[in-house]
Amino acid sequence: MSQPLPAHIWPLTATIANGRLHLGGCDVEALAARYGTPLYVFDEATLRGAMRAYQAAFRAQGLPFRVHYAAKALLNTAIAQLVATEGLGLDVVSGAELDVARRAGIPMAHVHLHGNAKRTEELARAVAWGVGAVVVDNLDELDRLAALTARHTSPQGVLLRLAPNIAAHTHAHIATGGADAKFGLPLEALDQAVEHVLAAPGLRLRGLHAHIGSQLFALDQLRATMAVLVEQAARLRTRYALTVEELSPGGGLGVPSLAEQAPPDLDAYAEVLARTLRAGCAAHSLPLPYLTVEPGRSIVARAGVALYTIVARKLTADGRPCYLHIDGGMADNIRPALYDARYSAVLASRADAAPGPPVSVAGRYCEAGDVLLRAVSLPIARPGELLAVATAGAYTLSMASTYNLVPRPAVVLVAGGRARLIQRRETEAELLARDLRLDEVSDD
Ligand SMILES: Cc1ncc(COP(=O)(O)O)c(C=O)c1O
Repeated sequence: MSQPLPAHIWPLTATIANGRLHLGGCDVEALAARYGTPLYVFDEATLRGAMRAYQAAFRAQGLPFRVHYAAKALLNTAIAQLVATEGLGLDVVSGAELDVARRAGIPMAHVHLHGNAKRTEELARAVAWGVGAVVVDNLDELDRLAALTARHTSPQGVLLRLAPNIAAHTHAHIATGGADAKFGLPLEALDQAVEHVLAAPGLRLRGLHAHIGSQLFALDQLRATMAVLVEQAARLRTRYALTVEELSPGGGLGVPSLAEQAPPDLDAYAEVLARTLRAGCAAHSLPLPYLTVEPGRSIVARAGVALYTIVARKLTADGRPCYLHIDGGMADNIRPALYDARYSAVLASRADAAPGPPVSVAGRYCEAGDVLLRAVSLPIARPGELLAVATAGAYTLSMASTYNLVPRPAVVLVAGGRARLIQRRETEAELLARDLRLDEVSDD
């Protein structure tokens, strides 16, 4: 029986020809043969399509907006160059991410620096390079930023990140908007923070920010977040006569990874945020501020497919495979172990073959929890065959480690039958280069 691919969880260009999976016009078996496995393949059309869909959805709302790609989901210079050419801004969290933004040519005015524990050197670099906003997470950071910029003649824009006390319906590890979450200023601390910014000659309050969590499929809490931001903006105007120019309800729109999950409606998402913002502004006679959204996973997840070689199997007593052991796992994709993320997969050369009994796919790393897929439907597979895992683009490579001293995978970008290596495979030599023998170590 032929199994068509569930189109919404595979890249836009995914096709099956003679049973073989193709992405961006490239046969993935050929890609694996050329670049080795594990290999992450990104489909340029899907990446650009997701960015354009965001821009179009908000443009249709007819209000001032910006879409910033949240680099934490996946960042390398080539991806950031696509972001630049599509006209999106970039949210970064570290000095090196800031550097990538610059290398990729993203206008610094469209870069926001996020993070709850930014180093002073990172703050200084962001200010020196002229980022559009530092998104301030806490009062201690604000102290350091005010001191850093005290003598600046052109003030640094800041957004204040609030913990809006809204519990997102998602896994606890990716819920970030509750009062007890580690991120953001409690609402009760907002006035103190605002007064600090107003008293700091080198800072200018541009607006307010919140991000309540990720992998969100319902829109009600996002609407509530937007409403809290407008309410606070109205309150600040009454209390301090200041008009905020930007409000950001963060990112977080969910990505389906299973055939039976439906994707959230992007147009409905844009409409809900825009309507809530407009209504709140009208009710309080506030001028409409910029609406900035920060999608991460919904830009890159679907575009990425991870390719692994099946190395071995574990058989049950009656000879049935119960585990397929692959040459990657939790070091290149921590999400199943970290928050029970689920995935879909096919055999790359028999992508339309009928499934056998359910089987689990185990990573190569020395943790019992390193199981990438549990009890999935796959054709009965043999060692040497190639497994393709869908929706693997987000929070996989960006969270990759070198656990068990295994080098990190290569990344290729495919489009129109052409594959470009955009991140080469890490080598064992690179891994060992920073590791010093005791007899090489000096005392200082
Ligand atoms: C502040 C902020 N903005 C945006 C995002 C992007 O979220 P997502 O990738 O779920 O869209 C995150 C994710 O952690 C975040 O912390």
